[in-house]
Amino acid sequence: MNKKITIILNSLKFQSFSFLKYVFFKKKRKRIKRHATDYFYNLPCIDFDNWAKEIDINLFNEMQKFQVHFQEYETNFNFTYLGGARGLNQYGALYFLTRLIKPQNTLETGVANGFSSYSFLSAIEKNNFGRLISNDLPPLDIEKKNWKYIGQMVPKKFHNIWTLHLGSDRKNLNSICKENTFDLAHFDSDKLSSGKMYCINTLLKYNKTSPIILIDNCADDFFWKNLIIKSYKKVVFDQNTKRFGILIHKDDITNFQL
Ligand SMILES: C[S@@+](CC[C@H](N)C(=O)[O-])C[C@H]1O[C@@H](n2cnc3c(N)ncnc32)[C@H](O)[C@@H]1O
Repeated sequence: MNKKITIILNSLKFQSFSFLKYVFFKKKRKRIKRHATDYFYNLPCIDFDNWAKEIDINLFNEMQKFQVHFQEYETNFNFTYLGGARGLNQYGALYFLTRLIKPQNTLETGVANGFSSYSFLSAIEKNNFGRLISNDLPPLDIEKKNWKYIGQMVPKKFHNIWTLHLGSDRKNLNSICKENTFDLAHFDSDKLSSGKMYCINTLLKYNKTSPIILIDNCADDFFWKNLIIKSYKKVVFDQNTKRFGILIHKDDITNFQL
């Protein structure tokens, strides 16, 4: 099917039109991203690996083994094209934090090939405890017959500890957060500030505890600079030259030596 028609049909099906902002304001967004990247990559940050070594050297060593395994798995994986970026660099950090926190429920938005899902699920399996609940809007230029490849890196053996919802965050997140309490969350879906704020606010509106929240794509705009969440501290981590943001509740700061 013609790509443009696929995009129009999927946009109508998922009632998701935010991509239009990229189309109409492409130049402006590029300029903002350049300045925001300068800002975010000049902020003081914590080297994740040094921090992890201090927190738990055995878990740090385990993370390193996972990273070697992940690289081999990814290199040899026969990917079906899903459009867009291939994945993320800080898969080791996701594994480490899941092993450290041992969350009962983990929430993620943005699955694509499943780099992050595979990392969370590998750690959950090792914990022998917990569940990952993911939400992903299928890339709008991908036909329905290929939606089955969303999260393609996740092997069948993980399917009993994983729930995958398909649709926009605005459509699905409210009921997901109403029905579950999360100890850990990772937002890597909507690139717009408003979309990221929606994810954080929806999670905190319903959650009975104070989850640790990881946020990718903080350098796309000035979202991180403007972000203020009551009782939460903002921390910037760096792993494998990629930076990401963490929101951590003030009561947990000393436990995590932050
Ligand atoms: C960068 S990719 C996620 C990469 C993934 N975390 C990984 O580690 O491989 C972003 C994903 O978020 C999805 N997405 C974009 N906007 C969204 C929205 N509003 N709601 C839900 N998912 C969205 C995209 O379709 C894409 O699959």
